[in-house]
Amino acid sequence: MDQYAVVGNPIAHSKSPSIHAHFAELTKQELAYSTLLGDEAEFENQVRDFFGKGGKGLNVTVPFKERAYAMCDILSQRAKQAGAVNTLMMGRNGDLFGDNTDGIGMVRDIVSNHGQSLTDKRILILGAGGAVRGVLEPVLSENPESVTIANRTVVKAQILADHFDCLASSFEALEGHFDIIINGTSASLSGSLPPLKGELINAKTWCYDMMYGKGRTIFLQWAHEHGADGADGLGMLVGQAAEAFYLWRQIRPETASLVEVMRQQM
Ligand code: ATR
Repeated sequence: MDQYAVVGNPIAHSKSPSIHAHFAELTKQELAYSTLLGDEAEFENQVRDFFGKGGKGLNVTVPFKERAYAMCDILSQRAKQAGAVNTLMMGRNGDLFGDNTDGIGMVRDIVSNHGQSLTDKRILILGAGGAVRGVLEPVLSENPESVTIANRTVVKAQILADHFDCLASSFEALEGHFDIIINGTSASLSGSLPPLKGELINAKTWCYDMMYGKGRTIFLQWAHEHGADGADGLGMLVGQAAEAFYLWRQIRPETASLVEVMRQQM
């Protein structure tokens, strides 16, 4: 049976095995998907060993996405832009191919599952870390009117803005309203929220949090208090997995029903 796995550290909490098992059942594919606890000193050897034993594909998660990127022989355009790899597979000639499906997973969730177009929209992205870098190219591919990156450390927003031809700002200097606001900061992990003015939201604004949780995230709570609807990143998690599955099996599984089931189980 074809073998797949997700490698990261920690890894026991990963939802990827159950997501991929669900996809396999849905699409009638015979495959096994397990977890691999990544070792700080041995990561590259673990990857080579996995493929050396005939493994078909690996997902890579924290903290190894940049190391996976560095060891690839061939990279997709979106992996190059992200500077990180979350999906690996082996080419016929033994070349290691790396892709990044995080951004396209998020964009498909926003566009297909939530029916929100990004085209011709004024988009605000909060944060300028790895998560934001990973989504910028797929967001820009939707041809928004503008993308503004706001970050606590403005110079990091400016570096990304220069690279991707967007706008950069501090939170405090943001003016006017945006059509779509995407939270890519890890602030909510510590239960905090960047200092955001309510006027960033108007009647048409829709918000997306790359984070997800049992209830409304603190960012979506802020959006709700200012009258904006939105969604959290559970669909992004399932979406990035669906795109990896598509890369490996050439079948793109439907994601909305699984998100619903996972939501009920949280
Ligand atoms: P990730 O891989 O999740 O993107 P990261 O690269 O460490 O993680 O980036 C974390 C992002 O969340 C950064 O944009 C960080 O802002 P700084 O660049 O100024 O550090 C942002 N962040 C984390 N905690 C925050 C907080 N309490 N308020 C605002 N932004 C925060």
